[in-house]
Amino acid sequence: TISAEEQMYRPNSHFTPKKGWMNDPNGMFYLNSTYHLFFQHTPFQSVPDFSKMHWGHAISKDLIKWQELTPAIAYDEKGAIFSGSAVVDKDNTSGFGDGKNIPVVAIFTYHDMKKEKAGEIDAQSQAIAYSLDNGKTWTKYSNNPVLKNPGIKDFRDPKVFWDAKRKQWVMGVAAQDRQHFYASKNLKDWVFLSEFGKDVGGHGGVWECPDLFPIKVEGTNEEKWVLIVNINPGGPNGGSAAQYFVGDFDGKTFKMDTLFTKQLQKEKVAWLDMGRDNYASVSFDNVPDNKRVIIGWMSNWDYAQEVPTNQWRGSTTIARELKLVKKENNYSLISAPVSELENYTAKSFTKKKITAREKITLSEANKIDLTKAVVNLNLKDLEAETYTFVLSNKEGETLSFGINNAENYLFVDRSKSGKNNFSDKFSMPITKANLDQTFLEGTFKIILDKTSIEIFFNNGEKVMTEIFFNSSPFTQLDLVSKGELNVKKLKINQLNIN
Ligand code: FRU
Repeated sequence: TISAEEQMYRPNSHFTPKKGWMNDPNGMFYLNSTYHLFFQHTPFQSVPDFSKMHWGHAISKDLIKWQELTPAIAYDEKGAIFSGSAVVDKDNTSGFGDGKNIPVVAIFTYHDMKKEKAGEIDAQSQAIAYSLDNGKTWTKYSNNPVLKNPGIKDFRDPKVFWDAKRKQWVMGVAAQDRQHFYASKNLKDWVFLSEFGKDVGGHGGVWECPDLFPIKVEGTNEEKWVLIVNINPGGPNGGSAAQYFVGDFDGKTFKMDTLFTKQLQKEKVAWLDMGRDNYASVSFDNVPDNKRVIIGWMSNWDYAQEVPTNQWRGSTTIARELKLVKKENNYSLISAPVSELENYTAKSFTKKKITAREKITLSEANKIDLTKAVVNLNLKDLEAETYTFVLSNKEGETLSFGINNAENYLFVDRSKSGKNNFSDKFSMPITKANLDQTFLEGTFKIILDKTSIEIFFNNGEKVMTEIFFNSSPFTQLDLVSKGELNVKKLKINQLNIN
C-alpha cells in the first residue's frame, strides 16, 4: 500500500530519493547515452547529517525519467562528501584509465566535522575519486586531498571543466565571498590562477556552488563565458538563490563584459530564477551538441529541513537548457525546460481566443490532472491592469501567480496554498521581476507537480520556481483579470512520466 505521504507529496515529474535527505545536485555528466545525477544525500534520515554526507546517484536516458541507484560515494575518516562536479576524462589525463574504459573523475569537497568542531579553519579541502564503470562504483584517490585549504573557512564546491583552448582543466571553487580559479593538467596537481567577485554581485550570504562555462550568444557566433554563483542567504526573495555574471575567460582570469558591468550597476545582481526554490543549480559535463543543461535543488535553506515530508526530503527542478541572449543594452541568461519533456505528453487540450473579463475557468475541476501538467499560454493585448492565474482545490486553498502590468511585476503568492507549519517564511510576497516594459504579448510555460510550480515567462526570460504543500491536490485553474485580457491560445498537457 502507498502511504498517504507518498500519495500526496511524492512528485510525479521530478526526481526525489526514495528515502532520506537530498540537497544539491552534484557531479552531473553524460556518457554512453546516459545522464548521471549525483546529489548531496543522507540516506538514513530525512534531515541532513553534515558529518555523514554521501553522493546519492540516479541515471536517466533523457533528463526527465530518473532511476535511483545506490549511493555512489560515501563519507570516510577524512570527512563528509560535500558538493562538487565530475568530468569525463576522455584523454586519460589523470592516468586513472585502464586502457579500456574512459575514466570519469569526481571532484568534491571533504568536510571534516572534527576539525570544524575544534574550530579549525581548514575543515574543507578538495579531493577526487574515479570511476571506470560509467559512474557506478568509485575509487577515492590515495593522495587526497588534491587541493588543501588555503586558510578560508568556506572553501568548497569545486566545479571543473576542460578548457580546450589552453589544454588544461580549470576548477572554480567558492571561497567565502568570492571565486577562486585553479588549473591542472592531470586533475591531481592544481595551481592557483585568479580570483573574482569580491566587489560585485550579491553578497548577502556565502558564495557556494559556482559554475563557469562558455556559451554562444544566441543567433551569433560570439562566445561569452557565464559564471553562475549560488549564494545563501541573500537571494532576491530571501534565503538561497543563484546569480550569474557574463564575461570572458582567458585561461587565467574571468573578467566581466563591459555591457554586463553597466547592467549590474543598474540591476546590482542578475538572478537566474526569481523564485524561492531553485538552488545549487549547476550544469552537466559532456552534453552532446554543446548544450548547457542545468538542474537545481528545488528548495531553500530557509526551510528545507522543515518541509512536511518524512520518508524523503528534497527534490530536483526540471532539467533546463540555458541560452544567452543579448539585447541592445543587456544580456540575459534564459532557461527553459529541456525539450525531452514534450515526449511525455499523455493527453492534452487546447482552447483558442478566449477573452477574459473578471474571472474565467481555464481548466475545470478534474479535466486534466494538474499535479502532472504543463500549461502553455499565449497571451496578447495585455492591457489588463493585473491578471492572476489561480489554482485551487476543494479545501479552498489557492496558489496564484500572474502579472501586475500597472506596476510591472510577475508574482507568485503561495501564502494560502496549504501547510505552512514548517515555516511562515513559506508564504511569498509578490516579486518585482525588474521588468522595464509592459507586456503586450507574452507566453507562459508552467510546469505543475504535486508540490511545485515552475513558471517560465517569455521563453524563460523570467523564471520563478516555488514549492508548496497543500492538503489536497489543486484541481482547477482559473484566470482572474482586472481589465480585459486575450488568451490567444491555451494548451494544457498532462504528463505521464512514471
Ligand atoms: C549548498 C551547500 C554546499 C555544500 C553542501 C553541503 O547547498 O551548502 O556549499 O557543499 O550544500 O551539503
